Amino acid sequence: MKKLILGICGSPRKQATDYVLKEALDQMEEKGYETEFFGVRGKEIGACRHCDYCLRKKECFLKDDMYKLYELLGKAQGIIIASPMYNGGISAQTKAIMDRCRALGAADYDFLRGKIGMGISVGGDRAGGQELALQQIHTYYILNGIIPVSGGSFGANLGACFWSQDTLKGVQEDKEGFRGLKKTVDMFARYLERYNPVRHEP
Ligand SMILES: Cc1cc2nc3c(=O)[nH]c(=O)nc-3n(C[C@H](O)[C@H](O)[C@H](O)COP(=O)(O)O)c2cc1C
Repeated sequence: MKKLILGICGSPRKQATDYVLKEALDQMEEKGYETEFFGVRGKEIGACRHCDYCLRKKECFLKDDMYKLYELLGKAQGIIIASPMYNGGISAQTKAIMDRCRALGAADYDFLRGKIGMGISVGGDRAGGQELALQQIHTYYILNGIIPVSGGSFGANLGACFWSQDTLKGVQEDKEGFRGLKKTVDMFARYLERYNPVRHEP
């Protein structure tokens, strides 16, 4: 069975972040992986209310589109989180997804443990917080037992950073961004082969 890579897009628009994440998933398909795209656009994903329902009942109180994502997170061996920059960091939508994963940990402490993760950040400015956003993504991975992967030095130190200039055309012209993306995707695939993470159903 092919390993499943889940791409999570934290932009509410079908523009730059959507485009580069799909490019990353295409590259993974070329390497022989199955891929699934999940975007926040048009979805209902509420922010965590810290009601602690998940700690008591082992599931989230909010019955919204996050349940579809919970299922995909269980099946995926590799996770790619892609976020636009909002005020120098990840979007609120991306953060809501991360926080809502508390319910997964409450139900099964090891639910995400051992999966492999990489990040993509897209800013309108060339230096608009992309590396901070990747650190936020990696921190989420570490907290949840996901192994964070970068593309290494000389272009992808923490992962893939893009400069969109606030347009789709801008991101499509960002050659350095795509070079960093390829380096990160290549390293991501190497880790997926080496560590062979398990797939499990929720
Ligand atoms: C509320 C808001 C805050 C933003 N803050 C930043 C920022 O701090 N740094 C930056 O580089 N771009 C910032 N941008 C621009 C977006 O990151 C940029 O247009 C990006 O390409 C959007 O991704 P998308 O095309 O996938 O929607 C901001 C956009 C919005 C709507």
